[in-house]
Order: sequence, then structure tokens, then C-alpha cells
Amino acid sequence: MQMASGASKLVMSFMAPLLLALTFVLLSGARVTDAAGVAMVRNGSSLSSYGGGEGDALISSRGRSLQAVAASSSSTTTQSALFSLDSYGAHGDGARDDTQAMAKAWSAACASPRPAVVLVPAGRSYLLRQVTLSGPCKSSITLMVKGTLVASPDMSNWNEDNRRHWIVLRGVDGLAVGGGGTVDGNGEGWWENSCKINRALPCKGAPTALSFHTCNNLRVDGLKMVNSQQIHMSVEDCTGVQLAHLSITALGTSPNTDGIHVTRSKNVQVSDCTIKTGDDCMSIEDGTHDLHVTRLVCGPGHGISIGSLGDDNSRAEVSGIFIDTVQLYGTTNGARIKTWQGGSGYAKDIVFQNMIMNSVKNPIIIDQNYCDSAKPCKAQGSAVEVSNVVFKNIKGTTISQNAINLNCSKNFPCYDIALQDINLKMVDDSGSTESTCQNAKWTKYGTVVPQPCTGTN
Ligand SMILES: *[C@@H]1O[C@H](CO)[C@@H](O)[C@H](O)[C@H]1NC(C)=O
Ligand SMILES: *[C@@H]1O[C@H](CO)[C@@H](O)[C@H](O)[C@H]1NC(C)=O
Repeated sequence: MQMASGASKLVMSFMAPLLLALTFVLLSGARVTDAAGVAMVRNGSSLSSYGGGEGDALISSRGRSLQAVAASSSSTTTQSALFSLDSYGAHGDGARDDTQAMAKAWSAACASPRPAVVLVPAGRSYLLRQVTLSGPCKSSITLMVKGTLVASPDMSNWNEDNRRHWIVLRGVDGLAVGGGGTVDGNGEGWWENSCKINRALPCKGAPTALSFHTCNNLRVDGLKMVNSQQIHMSVEDCTGVQLAHLSITALGTSPNTDGIHVTRSKNVQVSDCTIKTGDDCMSIEDGTHDLHVTRLVCGPGHGISIGSLGDDNSRAEVSGIFIDTVQLYGTTNGARIKTWQGGSGYAKDIVFQNMIMNSVKNPIIIDQNYCDSAKPCKAQGSAVEVSNVVFKNIKGTTISQNAINLNCSKNFPCYDIALQDINLKMVDDSGSTESTCQNAKWTKYGTVVPQPCTGTN
């Protein structure tokens, strides 16, 4: 973390009252707007004077706790400026383009000397083309999505230069995103034009719906994402990230619609997320260190994947990955580490624990021999080294017999692989499971079903 922990606590303690304060303003319908279209959100004590009628009881009862919280934070964080898209010319009808309104609201908020909130109002839908919202900003900034942000369905709005992105947040420190609203990638058109769906088409990338680039001390809490064009949320080059209470949904047949993608980022926490898509639930890529995931529900989709690492003979480094308390439903993989033949570097210090598999195809899999490209991979050259991996308390059902598959490289075998308290059965008890291994040094603790490494390969 670049920011001292005291400072990040301060950010968090100011966030709580701010979120509550906005809830009041929205619930009571009260809003005070100054000439520039900026509504002020005041601290707990002055908030109650905004209310009227039925909102009062709510405001005064919560007002006390707001004041208590506000009193504990510095006086400079008790007043925020609100920048609603509606004050910047947005139509909010889901049909006309609101990209300019978003960009203008962001610029104004980003220049605000007071902590700023960019509001996507509730009950309305704002159509956006590709948009990049950049920092650094003068003060801390919150993107409050109450309504819906919807991507333009017109693919010609994207060109060769920007076709991999829809909404990008770049270089914003202390950014908070939340509000419980929806980010809708409107991806159906892109899916139909994917070479994974239509083999006759050339393979061209599609946009990631929401990308965070170089955002330190980022918090995304309470957001629905649906039908992304490709990856739903991507966290890249960020340090100090909290993602919580996210619901991500796309068709199980939609191509490459990963849920959460993390790369070149440190100190990342993901909690209480539900991800149902057509690709990886989470993909954890090169440069991810100290990632902690807890209470995650996945499926349909491809499950949790570390990798693929080391493509095109590249070097990859991943360490300190802790995946805890996960339920998977009908996913292709459960706990997976996937590295390309010919890469280098490492994936180490990894724990997958407390996982429940429901009809998962490959519940536990290390594939160090991955090759998915058109041209053949360099056979058994170098590899990304895989070590110190714990698979612990993993139970449930599989649809394929090979429930534990440690498929490691001949030249760089996997080592320090622990298998502990595992019970994986065929769905509907339709036969027994087995385990296959190649070049893996493993240790068993407790009871492990299937017995590790009995199958031939
Ligand atoms: C809240 O705002 C009021 C008026 O703006 C001010 O008098 C009061 O001291 C503030 N309270 C806190 C806890 O900052
Ligand atoms: C292990 O990897 C090799 C090389 O990709 C592949 O041919 C083989 O089928 C894999 N074994 C299992 C059990 O998946």
C-alpha cells in the first residue's frame, strides 16, 4: 500500500457516512443545487434539515449515527459535492448518447476541491460509448451508480484503437464505486461477432466493460454487471483494492465474458461476489500478488483460474493467492492453475480452501502444459514454476472422472503441492473418481478422495 494505513482508514470512515448521506438525499427526493448544478451533501446534522414529510424519521434516526461517525473523521471530509449526470445534460432514456454528460460530470467532479460524488441517478438508463475517466483528481471521488449505465449497441462506435474498452477509470487514487445500480455491457452483438461463436469470423477482441488502470486504494462495493461485451471487470496495475458485493451475470454460452480479471496488482481483496458468466469466474494473471478472495459463488462459467501464465514465452510472476469459501455450480474448472509451455517465472504460495463443487468438470487442476494457440507450442521447454500450493477442504461433485489432475512440466515439476481433506465424487454416484499426475511432488493430509495420483496418464 502506498497510502499509510491511517490515511486509508480515514477514507473508509468518511465513505460510510457519505454513502448513507446520499441514500437520504435520494430517498427523500431533497436536493439543494447551486448555480453550477452542484448539489451539496452535508454532514449528519445539516442533512436532517433537507428532509421533509415521511423522510424525517429515517433521517433523524440515522442522523445520530451519522454524526457520531462524522465526528470521528476530519472536518475536511464532512462535506461533499454532488455531480449528477442529469445536471450535465444527460437524457437518461437509454437511447440517446450520454457520453458527453458523463465526461463533463467527471471532469467537474475531478476538479472539485471537496470530496466529489458523480451520480448516475436511480430509475434511469444512460447510454455510453467508449469513455475514459481519468485522474488524478483534486479530492477523493465516488462514482455512485444508482441507475443503469448501458453500452451503446452500435459496434461502429468502437474503432481499432478503443475496441478493447468500454468504461475506463485511469489513474484515480482513493476512488470508490458503488450505489447498487447496473453496468450493462449490451454484449449480445459482440458475442455474435466473436470467432468463438462464429468460426468463420476473424478473431477480434471486444471491449472490457469496466477497467481500472493504475487506481490505488480502490473500492468497488455494491454493483451489478450484466452482459459485458467481453471481460466484465478488469483491475490492472492497481495497489490496495477492495471489491465487494458484486453481482456479475451473462449467458453461460457468451464468449470470453470473464467475471473479474486481475493483473499486475497487489493487495487485492474480493468478497461476497456472485459471478455467472461464459468464461472464468475470476482470472488471476501475471503480476498479481497478495490477492485474498472470500465468499465467492461461481457458475456457470469456467471457474477460478490462475493464468494462463507465460504465453508467447513470457515471464510471469504470481504469489500470495488465498481463495477461501467458494461455491461452484456447473463450471468447467474449480481450482485451476494454468501455464503455457515455454513460459518462465513462478506461481507460488497459493491456497484454495473451503470450496464446494457442484457438477464441476475439473475440480482441481494444475495444467503446466497448456497450449491453446493455432501454432504448436514449444514442447516441454521452459515453464512457469508452480510451487507451494494448498488444496484444502474441497468437497462435492464432478462430472468427469479425473477429479484431481496435476499435469506438470517435465523440466520444471510442480513441488510442495498439498492435498488435504478432499472428497470429490461423481455426480449422482455414477462411478468412482480418480486422480492423474505428471511431474508433481505432492503430500496428502487427512482424507483425500480420490486417492491422489493413482490414474495413469
Ligand atoms: C456539520 O455541519 C454543521 C454546519 O455546516 C457544523 O456546524 C458542524 O460542526 C458539522 N458537524 C460535524 C460533525 O462536522
Ligand atoms: C497433460 O498435458 C499433456 C500435454 O498438453 C496432454 O497431452 C495430456 O492429455 C494431459 N493429461 C491430462 C490427464 O490431462
